[in-house]
Amino acid sequence: MDLVLLDDYDALSREAAARILETIAVKPDATLLLATGETPMGAYRELAEALARNPRDLSRLRPVQLDEYLDLEADDDRSLWGWMERAVVRPLGVPTGNVIRLAADGEDPEVAIASYEAALRAAGGIDLAVLGLGPNGHLGFNEPPAPADAPTRTVTLTPESVASNARYWGGAERVPRRAVTAGLDIILAARRTLLLVSGEPKRHILQRAVAGPVTPDVPASWLQRIEGVTLLADRAAWGPSAAVGRG
Ligand code: GLP
Repeated sequence: MDLVLLDDYDALSREAAARILETIAVKPDATLLLATGETPMGAYRELAEALARNPRDLSRLRPVQLDEYLDLEADDDRSLWGWMERAVVRPLGVPTGNVIRLAADGEDPEVAIASYEAALRAAGGIDLAVLGLGPNGHLGFNEPPAPADAPTRTVTLTPESVASNARYWGGAERVPRRAVTAGLDIILAARRTLLLVSGEPKRHILQRAVAGPVTPDVPASWLQRIEGVTLLADRAAWGPSAAVGRG
């Protein structure tokens, strides 16, 4: 795992955007697994601004949804698809039909999972995964414990994830309790991965994820076992000391 340490959140966002752009430049039909959550929002803004300055043909880009709440009405503001559309798909001008979605409105989750997996296979897997780190070490909603081959599936959110998602929607009571998540089998098969981590509250779990034992109890720790992972962390998240394996 490569570590790129950035001064602050803005620098992290610029670096992440530059790396996403590199992938798009090399492969205009790249499949990009794109997390929602707060951490990548700056990167998506920077990316949209860079593309406004230097337009590129994004008509063949394939964004891929990472996770989605269940049990919401189709037009509910809390849909993670809606968040993804507002934050990245629309600002970039990528055709909505290009997106490989997870659990489309009202669909049976098992049917949605089967078509998601089939679409990903047809697209040749993930070229670049842009991930955030959950406070309990989750990736997407792969809640601990999660083995490396955990499949795409419906999950019940842990109390820790409900608490952390409360900041998105104005209180824990507004956080859906069930979700569907891309499996670790898909996430860990990405050809390249950017793990974005910002802020002091993530410091402890970040150290467990990148320098602690590889264990289902910290799903992000599986990233230590695969190639092509770059951790972009700001100083607040990384802290004054601590070690990480490089290369
Ligand atoms: C959320 C999402 C993840 C996200 C992570 C970190 O619960 N399921 O996809 O990456 O937790 O979120 P944030 O970036 O807001 O800290």
